[in-house]
Amino acid sequence: MSQKQEWGSRLGVILAVAGSAVGLGNFLRFPGQAADNGGGAFMIPYFAALIFLGIPIGWAEWTMGRYGGRKGFHSAPAIMGAVGKGSLFRYLGIIGVLIPLAVSFYYVFIEAWCLSYALEYLKALISGGNALGIDPATANEVQTAASKSHFATTVGMERNGVLFEGGLAPIVWVFLGVFAVNIWLVIRGLSGGIETFCKWAMPAMAVCALFVLVRVLTLDSHGDDRSVSAGLGYMWNPDWDKLADPKAWIAAAGQIFFSLSVGFGVIINYASYMKKKDDLVLSGLTASATNELFEVGFGGMITLTAAVVFLGVAGTAEAVSGGTFGLGFSTLPIVFAHMPLGNLFGFLWFFMLFLAAITSSISMYQPTMAFLEESLGVSRRQAAGMVVGLGAIGSGWCVWFSGGMTALGTIDDWVGTFLIVVLALVQVVAFGWIWGMDAGMKEAHHGSAMRIPRLFWFVIKYVAPLYLLITIGRFVVQTLPGWIEGLGKNEVARNSVLLIGAVILFLVICTAIGVRRWRAAGLDVDGERLPDEDLQQSKS
Ligand code: ALA
Repeated sequence: MSQKQEWGSRLGVILAVAGSAVGLGNFLRFPGQAADNGGGAFMIPYFAALIFLGIPIGWAEWTMGRYGGRKGFHSAPAIMGAVGKGSLFRYLGIIGVLIPLAVSFYYVFIEAWCLSYALEYLKALISGGNALGIDPATANEVQTAASKSHFATTVGMERNGVLFEGGLAPIVWVFLGVFAVNIWLVIRGLSGGIETFCKWAMPAMAVCALFVLVRVLTLDSHGDDRSVSAGLGYMWNPDWDKLADPKAWIAAAGQIFFSLSVGFGVIINYASYMKKKDDLVLSGLTASATNELFEVGFGGMITLTAAVVFLGVAGTAEAVSGGTFGLGFSTLPIVFAHMPLGNLFGFLWFFMLFLAAITSSISMYQPTMAFLEESLGVSRRQAAGMVVGLGAIGSGWCVWFSGGMTALGTIDDWVGTFLIVVLALVQVVAFGWIWGMDAGMKEAHHGSAMRIPRLFWFVIKYVAPLYLLITIGRFVVQTLPGWIEGLGKNEVARNSVLLIGAVILFLVICTAIGVRRWRAAGLDVDGERLPDEDLQQSKS
């Protein structure tokens, strides 16, 4: 069995889960999704998805994780097998290892972009020049072109392999450093690595974000439609007419899952290291609330307000149409170029993005580490070696096939968007329908200071599965055919999906090996025993 790991304190686990939740999704994905779906029009489906999907499914995930941990399991396949009572859910649980691992493939590369931008601002701050080659004295189009071109060159957008031509490009070195720090933190363990790091990184992020927010909220207005109040209005004034548009509801659900790390395979693993008396109801709520503070209070209000002040509402909508990274990496640098002390705020912004990303990416490696230790019986160091191998292949793939960001985008579509919703459905069905609401809620309430309102029992059992089924159904009918057609046309996209297939095969083999080992060790693989029987057995 895997070496014993546990959280050092209750605050530690909350900060680690919040650290996993608060990430690039909050600062890059959320503002892009909000602007893309009509600004304020997005906020109603968004909060509905938070309350009716994110928080309740999160509670189910925390509960299953802590329950699995008491049975001696820490990986999603083993825990889902115990909760879902058999091999169907065990093998579906593999998605809970695949998602964090495959998302890490591209996430850590983006993390390297953030650090690289932060270092460039720091350099400009020290030397006093224009950061990223953006000269605020030139015409707007020239600045936009400079910002976009800097981004395209940094990330190797031009063609595949360009970051390796004539030696390694600077971003590859930054990536290697960032990757090494991630692995080092994970090897140090749950309490000594992840928890300790999150305990200082989360407050540091909040301080950086607060500085940038105050600066943005005190920007001078450039006319009625280019002011702080226009920016805030853009984000907060609901557009009732758009509520009927299903696209916004589907986008809102996807954003909530990605952002909260729910349906992601992380919480189930993190919660498995809690003790039975640890309060998971309040911990889940606190972690979600922290995520919302960073997402709506900082991510949305900084990015959207700054963009509206400088570009107006129409310009902001146009900026996001260029993709998730348009606002954060192309538009905001122009805003910083025009601000007094812009290099300082640029540094704070990108350094905060880097911290947000790394507290999330370490949470993406940890589930695979736990899974390998538990299924193959290897030591933490050996598991780390295997994760390095998997990460090198997967991230190396995204770094090499950087042209047009096709590899990154394909993995994000299939895994970071589609499979997240599938895993959420698998979890909620296992919890509400197989395990049963009475057993699940009894387990959730051990040690909790507050009870989950009855309404949420109904939500978990009926509303969430229905919402998810409709989302997946619409997706299969409307989006999937286009994606499949895209695979036929693009070799890199096709091979990226094959790479994911190879990872799934590897995880299936490990799970099959694991089941034999768990049975041999007398563990309750199919969830036949009550948790109290497990406790007695481990005591005797
Ligand atoms: N929850 C993480 C994020 O929002 C993955 O970036």
